[in-house]
Amino acid sequence: MLKGKKIIVGISGGIAAYKICSLVRLFVKNGAEVRVIMTPSAVNFVSPLTLSVLSQNEVVINMFPDEDWSKSETVKAGTWHISNGMWADMFVVAPATANTMAKINAGISDNFLLSAVLAARCPVVLVPTMDEDMFKNKITQRNLADLKKYGYRILEPVVGELASGLYGMGKMPEPEEIFDYVKSQFIKKDLKGKKILVTAGPTRQPIDAVRYISNYSTGKMGFEIARAAAERGADITLITGPSSEKINAVDNLIRVQTTEEMFEAVKKHCKGSSLVIMTAAVSDFKPKNVLQNKMKKDKKVSSVNLELEKTVDILQYLGKNKKGFILFGFALETDNQIENAKRKLKEKNLDLIVLNDPNVEGAGFGTDTNVASLITNDAITELPLMSKYELANSILDEYLKKK
Ligand code: CTP
Repeated sequence: MLKGKKIIVGISGGIAAYKICSLVRLFVKNGAEVRVIMTPSAVNFVSPLTLSVLSQNEVVINMFPDEDWSKSETVKAGTWHISNGMWADMFVVAPATANTMAKINAGISDNFLLSAVLAARCPVVLVPTMDEDMFKNKITQRNLADLKKYGYRILEPVVGELASGLYGMGKMPEPEEIFDYVKSQFIKKDLKGKKILVTAGPTRQPIDAVRYISNYSTGKMGFEIARAAAERGADITLITGPSSEKINAVDNLIRVQTTEEMFEAVKKHCKGSSLVIMTAAVSDFKPKNVLQNKMKKDKKVSSVNLELEKTVDILQYLGKNKKGFILFGFALETDNQIENAKRKLKEKNLDLIVLNDPNVEGAGFGTDTNVASLITNDAITELPLMSKYELANSILDEYLKKK
């Protein structure tokens, strides 16, 4: 995603600066070319040498280099802040202190970082990070409001433990969150205004007070669809069964346990949707009688019969009650795959079905990749092995072709 993208990471002097090492690492690992610029006070919080090694580039701090700059290859006399500003596709200032933001807002450029921000032609992301009182101060808030008006993109701080020992607003979001935000800035918002409902994960059906039946689904595919759609500007409701996957980007995250709970949540939230995607590996069966207490081992019996009954087919219900939304389903098939998937497409009144074979290498539960075919009434598109994130985007592209 970030392959070949040129990113400047600007660091101003706040304690959270030490976390930027992980951010730089994430950018580089994902194919971006990174240059780091620090304010002179930022070097008190994190080592320029570490950042230089991680970014694989020289770190710029001072307005004027120590060496004889007329001999420098990289420094074009007096204009290198301009060339940096022109070089970047994205400029991220994190942490952005109250002081640095105030100066940017006033057009002050008395250090190299500020000069480069002022000269930047690319989008500039600011990550305000400071003590709560400084953050809530009317002057800081006025600066933030002005900077937003000027088109600076602000990733708001979060509530947490601050360097002062106080707890409150002003903490820098974790590097992974900054990374996701920056990545999303490169993505075309072609799903803006679309309301998308995604289901993910397994469901669990209780047997007794401590046991349940379920399946191996981890929820990864559904979470990747929700993430990709949110990055493309959609308004996302994600309804998930038990899953350890994490996500920040969705507007509405609903956690459920059983098929019935998922069904109720889907019925409630499908109204007004533009697209519903059922990736959840919904339990098809549930124990007919659920014991309130823990089932004890009876020494006299060597086996126990568990009577199962069918759960509601959520996708079938949606197909029958499809009003105003496009409906995508998933099919996990081990044999007669195309035939079975096509049957489900028809029986469940779907607009598209994503066919997976769990036995293919790189596909199935818990993997980061998948191999799938996208099947509609008039076409079958076989996709190669790709990440679940890439597959998520291919599925969303299909929606854009249909609407
Ligand atoms: N699904 C659902 N409710 C269920 C079972 C499945 O909404 N009770 C949805 C899944 O989210 C998926 C699709 O139906 O999008 C296909 O699920 P799958 O288990 O592969 O198919 P089934 O219809 O259950 O048929 P079978 O188990 O016979 O393959």
